[in-house]
Amino acid sequence: MMPVRVLAVASEVYPIVKTGGLADVAGALPIALKAHGVEMRTLMPGYPDVMRLVSGAAEIRSWPDYFGGPGRLLAGFHEGLDLFVLDVPHLYARLGNPYVTTEGVDWPDNGVRFAALSRVAADIGHGLVPAFVPDIVHAHDWQAGLAPAYLHYDNRPRPATVMTIHNMAYQGKFAPELIGSIGLPWHTFNVNELEYFGGISFLKAGLQFADRITTVSPTYAREIQSDEGGMGFGGLLRARSDVLSGILNGIDISVWNPQEDPHIAYRYGAEDLTFRAANKAVLQQQFNLDSSDEAPLLGVISRLSWQKGLDLLLEAIPTILREGMQLALLGSGDRDLQDRYQAAARANPGRIGVAIGYDEILAHLLQAGSDALIVPSRFEPCGLTQLCALRYGAVPIVSRVGGLEDTIVDIGEADASGRNATGFKFAPVTADALAGSLRKANAAFHDKQTWRRLQRNGLATDVSWRGRAGDYAALYRDLMAARA
Ligand code: ADP
Ligand code: GLC
Repeated sequence: MMPVRVLAVASEVYPIVKTGGLADVAGALPIALKAHGVEMRTLMPGYPDVMRLVSGAAEIRSWPDYFGGPGRLLAGFHEGLDLFVLDVPHLYARLGNPYVTTEGVDWPDNGVRFAALSRVAADIGHGLVPAFVPDIVHAHDWQAGLAPAYLHYDNRPRPATVMTIHNMAYQGKFAPELIGSIGLPWHTFNVNELEYFGGISFLKAGLQFADRITTVSPTYAREIQSDEGGMGFGGLLRARSDVLSGILNGIDISVWNPQEDPHIAYRYGAEDLTFRAANKAVLQQQFNLDSSDEAPLLGVISRLSWQKGLDLLLEAIPTILREGMQLALLGSGDRDLQDRYQAAARANPGRIGVAIGYDEILAHLLQAGSDALIVPSRFEPCGLTQLCALRYGAVPIVSRVGGLEDTIVDIGEADASGRNATGFKFAPVTADALAGSLRKANAAFHDKQTWRRLQRNGLATDVSWRGRAGDYAALYRDLMAARA
């Protein structure tokens, strides 16, 4: 097998910096690709956590003035990942979230911050680092969207490019004046290139100029070609449908392994789930819920945003109470949703428990102790928490969209590909339909055999990166063959 060299470009990479699933994917895929003969290095910004954690960092290039201040390109590694780090202190040496201020507002110079990242990606593509000249530059989300565009406009021999969409809702929109300060020609400002509703969009740049576009599930790949799902890019994606495909995400099954998980109270294997009850008891304590093995415990681990549909779950709380179920929610995001969930917990002590914040350890305990995991998203490119739930024996209750549709088999359905039922899916994405599936899940929970069967089928599902990394490797090889 010919080795393939790929430069991945990502704004967050687990376990170094993470705000969502993009980091999980960017952190796990390079390692899974090794078995497929793909040598992947990942370029990321030098945020403080990166500068602290990356070891063996060696300077391979420095600039006295990189987009307005001194900058360096470093090569280093962390936990099996080979990294390039763009260390530009005036752009990235800021504490906290990579995209927003402590007040939750986008950094005003995000356009320059992520243009700088893409510019160096394109330069590595052109051979800036002789020891690693990539065959392919693989850009993730809008933060890397300009990389394929720079490579295109540089008008030199270039590596092939892949753009992966993790979420159409984040489009990297900026004022047109930015064009002048990020080294792009003004003629790019037209509707067939970067112009987007009077401004420019970095996501559009990637979608226009990447040789291949992927997204993180086959169903989302279809949905985004519609006007509604495309969120402004439906037409563009229909026009490029011949190069667009969906490849499902996996999860890192060594990080998510109930048999060896250091974050859960009691470890267990797929063949013996009795310790789940002990984890459930600990979870009930932590969320101030009544201790009861009989009450089905519903878990949620999520960003609190419109996408995730958690306002619908608030509306379904009367059903949860009526059915004798409990709810434990871990999440952070929209202030309004945070407040409403906290109010629901205050109003229903012992029945609704809420933890506001981002807590990796608690997320593991929730997977190990919840009976069911709810993901009521309005749209969901792939979704990872339902995959973790399958691996931990928590039964997913999900809306029928995007990757949720592709990864969960509903209890009432014979799956076309012969897969066994693993959970509950509802449509349309409304509070009523959600409440209906909660009632169904409650009935199934009290039929021990049915519930065990769902859990066993989930535990037997392959949620690892093994096969999915193979799909990316095949895409890279196919793309190289097409250009040869
Ligand atoms: P998205 O990327 O849209 O947020 P995903 O389901 O793809 O959704 O990925 C979310 C990731 O972030 C999962 O690994 C999940 O466990 C984690 N996560 C989300 N919210 C929290 C939280 N409040 N605390 C800990 N982990 C969280
Ligand atoms: C995005 C999506 C989520 C997906 C993740 C990783 O944040 O919202 O569905 O799983 O990216 O691809």
